[in-house]
Amino acid sequence: MKRIGVLNSGGDCPGLNAVIHGVVGAASQMGIEVVGIKYGFEGLLAPASYRVLTPADTIGILQQGGTILGTTNKGHFISKLGMGTPEEISKGIIENARGTMQQLSLDALVVIGGDGSLTTALQLYRAGFPVVGVPKTIDNDLLATARTFGFDSACAMVVDALDRLQTTAQSHERVMVLEVMGRHAGWIAMWGGIAGGANVILIPELEYDLDKVADFIKQRDADGYKSTLVVVAEGAHLPEGGLSTRSGSAGAEVRLGGIGEIIAQELEVRTGKDTRACVLGHLQRGGQPTALDRIIGARFGVKAVKLAAEGGFGRMVSYDAYRVVSVPIEEAVHQLRRVQDNGEIVETARAIGIHLGQ
Ligand code: F6P
Repeated sequence: MKRIGVLNSGGDCPGLNAVIHGVVGAASQMGIEVVGIKYGFEGLLAPASYRVLTPADTIGILQQGGTILGTTNKGHFISKLGMGTPEEISKGIIENARGTMQQLSLDALVVIGGDGSLTTALQLYRAGFPVVGVPKTIDNDLLATARTFGFDSACAMVVDALDRLQTTAQSHERVMVLEVMGRHAGWIAMWGGIAGGANVILIPELEYDLDKVADFIKQRDADGYKSTLVVVAEGAHLPEGGLSTRSGSAGAEVRLGGIGEIIAQELEVRTGKDTRACVLGHLQRGGQPTALDRIIGARFGVKAVKLAAEGGFGRMVSYDAYRVVSVPIEEAVHQLRRVQDNGEIVETARAIGIHLGQ
């Protein structure tokens, strides 16, 4: 293996640059040249948009949000059919991309992407492209990996927002509704909400009843807890019927904002409490990645290069271990879990050129 391409596609995500750093670091240790393809899969179309990446190009990018390669969630490769829905990419586009791979002498292509981009990656693999995948989404909703990078940074933003909303909510004895990202899954809402001290969390996966939420808030009031923090995932469904009617001057229904705004209005009507909404939006995707997202990103990048070198095409790097479980206490004492010389973390450090003193 002499040369590999790396591209990221779809929305940006804190930790993307850490993956690129891992890919370039590991590849250079293995004598493989890396070509960074710009603007997602679009960069595979002629005239190709690319740049050769050396370790020098990755100095200082670990801590940067966004992606040095640029990205897009539009274009010739993106499924318009929705999440995970296979849509045939036209033959012409595939041949164009194949031509670019040949022109750049790429022996493998590392695709960093979420559900839609990995669907495209799979189609390219099935069309004969030497593709390996790296899962990416702040939503942490990809089934085949327990964690994606970006999620921790997004949750950190939610926690920071809740910490701030808590003090103002308490001062004014208000209900504060925070709308967070998560179109199809409520992981950011659940993790960010629990870590940030939310009192109510509403997610797409669980039906909810606003009257019950209002009763809960009124009971908190009666119990002396005068403020309430509500987190709602952007993809949470509007409760069937039962919304208090809002009429404009012409009698038409007036929709004021997204789900957070609607929930806030509905709760204010039902509880009589002063309620405000706050939409966190793309603040969750921007800015510096947390340490955890950097390390997951770097490990994914290193593993992706190794996978490519082994010819593990059509495969994706993945993080395992999902649950908190219980074990006998006696298993925890007398011995510590220490860094293993041949363990993945040591290999990752070595792979990206970190000197461990030997
Ligand atoms: O899937 C990641 C995500 O950040 C979602 O949580 C959010 O709904 C969406 O992307 C936003 O996409 P865009 O940047 O295109 O508005």
